[in-house]
Amino acid sequence: MKTVGILISGRGSNMMALVDAGIPVGLVASDRPDAPGLAWAKDRGIATIALSPRGIGKAAYEAQVDAALREAGCEVVALAGYMRLLSDAFVGRWRDRIVNIHPSLLPKYKGLDTHARAIAAGDTVAGCSVHVVTEELDAGALLGQAEVPVLPGDGPDTLAARVLEAEHRLYPRVLKEFASR
Ligand code: GAR
Repeated sequence: MKTVGILISGRGSNMMALVDAGIPVGLVASDRPDAPGLAWAKDRGIATIALSPRGIGKAAYEAQVDAALREAGCEVVALAGYMRLLSDAFVGRWRDRIVNIHPSLLPKYKGLDTHARAIAAGDTVAGCSVHVVTEELDAGALLGQAEVPVLPGDGPDTLAARVLEAEHRLYPRVLKEFASR
């Protein structure tokens, strides 16, 4: 299996699921130094970096992330709750080698607030998608999806928790296959 670099912005529960599933992780990079997932990865002896575009600009920031991923031997990049848009240049350098998990059944509800939008629409089924990252937001080829029910009385938080459990099962399975291609 190819070595995977994981980009996070916060909690990192999907990153933890990927590590716990035995995926070879060469680097965990966060755009926020206070991301709780960073300490978790560091505790497990995984190389980590915290870099922010603040002060240096997006191009320099992404160049450093790119260099760190290559130095760590990563051949695939997995976004796991990474809340920044990657530039076209970065996506081009890693063409067809970046994947993302998104908390909706794409092509429904690209972007943010997916659970509130699913509830407002009266959907009875929600879920998550793993897809290839392209220049267009949440629009690359689908690699896998998992469905969960929307239950009466659900709010965005209860639905998010149910979808997150499905994410933790879906992402490792799909990424293992993708990184073994
Ligand atoms: C997950 O639900 C993930 O699907 C979502 O953020 C959460 C991160 O949780 N990602 C996006 O919305 C990407 N646009 P985690 O940090 O615990 O993995």
